[in-house]
Amino acid sequence: MKAAYYERFGPASDVLRVGEVDTPRPGSGEALVRLATSGVNPSDVKLRAGQRPGAEMPYARIIPHSDGAGVIEAVGPWADRRRLGQRVWLWNAQWRRAMGTAAEYVSLPAEQAAPLPEATSFDAGATLGIPAMTAWAAVCGDGPVEGRTVLVTGGAGAVGRYAVQMAKLSGAQVIATVSGPEKAARVVGADLVVDYKRENVVRAVNDFTYGAGVDRIVDVDFGANLADSLALIREGGTIVAYASMGQRTPALPFYDLMFRNVTLKTLLVYLLDAETRRRGIAQIVRWLEAGALNCAVGPVFALDAVAEAHAAVEAGPSGTVVVRLP
Ligand SMILES: NC(=O)c1ccc[n+]([C@@H]2O[C@H](COP(=O)([O-])OP(=O)(O)OC[C@H]3O[C@@H](n4cnc5c(N)ncnc54)[C@H](OP(=O)(O)O)[C@@H]3O)[C@@H](O)[C@H]2O)c1
Repeated sequence: MKAAYYERFGPASDVLRVGEVDTPRPGSGEALVRLATSGVNPSDVKLRAGQRPGAEMPYARIIPHSDGAGVIEAVGPWADRRRLGQRVWLWNAQWRRAMGTAAEYVSLPAEQAAPLPEATSFDAGATLGIPAMTAWAAVCGDGPVEGRTVLVTGGAGAVGRYAVQMAKLSGAQVIATVSGPEKAARVVGADLVVDYKRENVVRAVNDFTYGAGVDRIVDVDFGANLADSLALIREGGTIVAYASMGQRTPALPFYDLMFRNVTLKTLLVYLLDAETRRRGIAQIVRWLEAGALNCAVGPVFALDAVAEAHAAVEAGPSGTVVVRLP
């Protein structure tokens, strides 16, 4: 089969190759998926660049990308044969494995292939594994948010945009921060959008909530936003942080958090427990079936242009970058 791969970490154009590799065969409990699309996330790009802490190539050759969508073409022993021909979206395909979705086929544990409703395109299916699951776990993973006020920082990002929609669909009042009017226009469903580069976020949120602040913060940049988060989180509230790229090693103001009974939760989507994952997938599929989720498909590339796809992620795309398989 045709696949993209790398055999050392480095810049995309130096290390990513496209060529023929062996087509995988589904092992016990596995599904062989013929891929239509592969989603490219910042995580895939950082991994290929060797930016993970203590990173050494864990395998001699890595076919990148965790997310993707396609059709189950074969199953191994102990996997459900009734799923043959099913349209699916994938999660964790390359997590702790050498074989990701930047290929014509991937074989993976069958539970890592979730049903993709007929009306959801394969392009949209490639935006779900990391962005939608992270958003769901950050917004809904600890219980209902109905009637709560949720602040989503970076509400135009791949994760943030889903988080805003999911909080709204779950009955919360939703505030999103963005930088600039173009990003503000990409936010779907927020009750208030604040331009964090031009406005005073604390003042804008306090004006909107009559000084009450917010119950939950879904945060794309924990360190950079910490002062605002502390000013806005209510007693007993929760800050869920899934990245901190602007300030990677923030000092933790322990007593400021403790004396307000604030829960600080870090989230790594790859490590969601099975029950949270199951609930998240079920809800995402229900929303997709109802046509309730607006999936942001960003620039689309052919497999031969996989290095350009990685460069597009590094440039900060609008929507999830998608690679289409032949
Ligand atoms: N922990 C996990 O499981 C997990 C899962 C998914 C993603 N991530 C990480 O989360 C980050 C975002 O991923 P993504 O796919 O959503 O990327 P993305 O589509 O590029 O979105 C990131 C958004 O955050 C905004 N942003 C950056 N700094 C901000 C700040 N201080 N306040 C408010 N908004 C800010 C960016 O816009 P402006 O810069 O214009 O403001 C952009 O719209 C990446 O570092 C990724 O690796 C982690």
